Amino acid sequence: MDSIEEKVALITGASQGLGRVIAIELAKAGCRVVINYANNRENAENVKAEIEKLGGDVRIARCDVGDETAVNEMFSGLGQVDILVNNARLDPWRRTEKMSEGEWFDQVIRVNLKGAFLTSGAFFAQAKPRKWGRIVNMTSVRSFRPAEMNMIAYGVSKLGMHALTRAFAHNGAPFGITANTVAPGMIVTENINKRLTSEKYAEESAAIPLGRGATCEEIADAVIFTLRNGYVTGETININGGMYYAP
Ligand SMILES: NC(=O)c1ccc[n+]([C@@H]2O[C@H](COP(=O)([O-])OP(=O)(O)OC[C@H]3O[C@@H](n4cnc5c(N)ncnc54)[C@H](OP(=O)(O)O)[C@@H]3O)[C@@H](O)[C@H]2O)c1
Repeated sequence: MDSIEEKVALITGASQGLGRVIAIELAKAGCRVVINYANNRENAENVKAEIEKLGGDVRIARCDVGDETAVNEMFSGLGQVDILVNNARLDPWRRTEKMSEGEWFDQVIRVNLKGAFLTSGAFFAQAKPRKWGRIVNMTSVRSFRPAEMNMIAYGVSKLGMHALTRAFAHNGAPFGITANTVAPGMIVTENINKRLTSEKYAEESAAIPLGRGATCEEIADAVIFTLRNGYVTGETININGGMYYAP
C-alpha cells in the first residue's frame, strides 16, 4: 500500500460535516491537510484548531470552487497538492423560495460539478510532473436512484462527477494519478438534525437495509482506502448500508 504520510491533501468543503471529518482522519493518517471552504470562516477555523490539537499540519484555503480564477489562485498559492477530495456541495436544502428552477439548477451544477471539474483540472496540471496523485469525488446514492422532484439537480450534478472520475482516471493513469468516486447514502453529520426531524430520520433509516445512516468516519475510511491502494482507479465505492440495491 502507498504511504500517505506527509502528502498534501486538499479537501473541498471541509469546514463542516463530512469534509471536516475527512480532514481530521487524513491528518491522523499523517497528511498535511488543507481545509477549503467558501462562506463560513469560523467553522473552518474551528476545524483547523481541532486538527492542530491533534498535532496535525493544517492550512485553510478559502475559495468558491465554482469560480475558475479563484480555483487557479488557490492552487498557485498552495504549491504542491498530492490528494484532492472533491467534497464541496451546495446544500440541497438551502434553496430559497424566490429561486426559479433554472437558477437553482445552474447554482447546483456550478458548485457541485463545475467546481469538481475546475479543481480536478488545476490539481492534475500540478500533480502530473511528480507522477503521483489521488482524486476522490464524493457523490451520492442519489446518482443512481430516482431523485425526488426537489433533488433532481443534486442527483444530476453527482452523476456528472462519475464521468469526471472516469476521465481523470483514464488521463491520469500514465502519470500515476488515480481517480475514484465514493458514493454514500445517508450520513449522520452534526447537521442532520437541522435537515431531518427525528420522525423523518426514523422513516429514512427504516428504508436502509442496515437501519441507520453512516458515520462520517465510515465514509472517511472508504476515502482513505482509495488513497492507499494505487491499483484502484475509475471505480465507485458504494457505501450506503444497502440502499443502492434496496427496492
Ligand atoms: N450528508 C449526507 O447525508 C450525504 C449523503 C450522501 C452524499 N453526501 C455528500 O457528501 C459531501 C459532504 O456532505 P455534507 O452533508 O457534509 O455537506 P454540507 O454539510 O452541506 O457541507 C458542504 C461544505 O461545502 C462547502 N461549500 C459550499 N459551497 C462551496 C463553494 N462554492 N466552494 C467551496 N466550498 C463550498 C461548505 O462551506 P461553507 O459553509 O463555507 O459554504 C461546507 O463546508 C457532499 O459532496 C455531499 O453531496 C452527503
